[in-house]
Amino acid sequence: MIVCKTKQELKQALASRNAQETIGFVPTMGALHEGHASLFKRARAENDVFVASVFVNPIQFNNPEDLKNYPRDFEADRKLLEENGCDIVFAPSVEEMYPEGEPLKSYSFGALETVMEGAQRPGHFKGVGVVVGLLFELVRPDRAYFGEKDFQQVAVIQDLVRQMGIKTRIVPCPIKRGEDGLALSSRNALLTPENRALAPKIHAALKKSSEMANRSCREVKEFVCGQIAAVPEMKLEYFEIARPDTLQTVPDEAPAQGNVGFIVVWMGKVRLIDNIRY
Ligand code: PAF
Repeated sequence: MIVCKTKQELKQALASRNAQETIGFVPTMGALHEGHASLFKRARAENDVFVASVFVNPIQFNNPEDLKNYPRDFEADRKLLEENGCDIVFAPSVEEMYPEGEPLKSYSFGALETVMEGAQRPGHFKGVGVVVGLLFELVRPDRAYFGEKDFQQVAVIQDLVRQMGIKTRIVPCPIKRGEDGLALSSRNALLTPENRALAPKIHAALKKSSEMANRSCREVKEFVCGQIAAVPEMKLEYFEIARPDTLQTVPDEAPAQGNVGFIVVWMGKVRLIDNIRY
């Protein structure tokens, strides 16, 4: 595996491959876990060259505390990437990624960036758009793999590719869960043992609510909100039922069926995100 710290090194590594070979790309912020590994396995299996990036992107964090606490362990990341057959990893510094004085190409995602995560984390998707746009320009992947845990991010990236006019195919990958149902996330490592033991109740509530898909969104919301409220260690930030394509909220009277339930729960200082299809 070639480790590239600079854009120049990455360009050289990519130039040394055969131009006919397909490139599969997985952008990450490191602190890699089995959820990432499921994307790596697909990128490895479906392409000639598998490229990953490890970069904690400061401009997508609207909370400085969250950025400071974000787990980082490049040696462990390198090992997991190597085990999964990665050919090239790009792991730049912030200064390398965003040289002072160099203008950044920014994108707007309309309604996709103003709801849910966009409303709660102002500027988040602008920051994601900047970094993924830049990475796509550098890597020029045939396919890029993203986890559906960040369902809204996948919709934003699909829109980014349309705006950039590039041929990269976005491959959404199913949420990877622990045996107890908790969606795998780098932030899970920050949970206290007590909260880690309770956290699977989020998915349990969503899963149970999927049995109510033919009921109204109001009823489903009341059920899920009630389940979370029953756990004193959990603080619900939002639970919304929205359309999978536009991400716009479905009216309370409409059935949940065919839509997606999006949830964010705080446990202590850790923000957990999950979703379910109805
Ligand atoms: O999902 C992530 O880890 C990040 O948002 C991404 C896509 C790597 C951009 O920094």
